[in-house]
Amino acid sequence: GLKKKEVHVLCLGLDNSGKTTIINKLKPSNAQTQDIVPTIGFNIEKFKTSSLSFTVFDMSGQGRYRNLWEHYYKEGQAIIFVIDSSDKLRMVVAKEELDVLLNHPDIKHRRLPILFFANKMDLRDAMSSVKVSQLLSLENIKDKPWHICASDALKGEGLQEGVDWLQEQIQ
Ligand code: GTP
Ligand code: MG
Repeated sequence: GLKKKEVHVLCLGLDNSGKTTIINKLKPSNAQTQDIVPTIGFNIEKFKTSSLSFTVFDMSGQGRYRNLWEHYYKEGQAIIFVIDSSDKLRMVVAKEELDVLLNHPDIKHRRLPILFFANKMDLRDAMSSVKVSQLLSLENIKDKPWHICASDALKGEGLQEGVDWLQEQIQ
């Protein structure tokens, strides 16, 4: 068949937000793993959509590994940024990391699409995607296309909507 266009995506966000769980769910069911452990450093994963072949840098969100993220910024053509919507205490930390990302010289002046997942929407104390968007001041992002989706990575809910949006941005 036709060769799909290859796209490099950076999957970023704090530890325990659900990055690896989301990327795992986007893979074909026979390639999915059952036990997901905290990522050490980063892993490279692949998944396909109808027209694109994604290579994902699934980064560790742990504080001691976050300094690795920037080494891959130049290579990224899109960003998936994952937030644990139930983690009210660390929302300010997530915002700080997002602001550092957006101000980085390798990111700042590029029109990179950013897909936000307000993940763990299944949890009782999860905030809505609108609330998460407000707390992260996403309305201030003017030079990049962005989109936020509420997701439940355990059930896979909300993921397709997000990836459809990403695919549209990249065509
Ligand atoms: P690091 O690799 O350490 O940066 O974490 P991560 O962002 O990759 O998180 P990971 O995918 O390892 O998930 C962390 C924990 O959250 C795991 O126990 C997941 O099962 C759980 N989890 C992920 N997504 C969801 C979700 O949508 N809802 C609920 N309830 N739990 C989730
Ligand atoms: Mg991980």
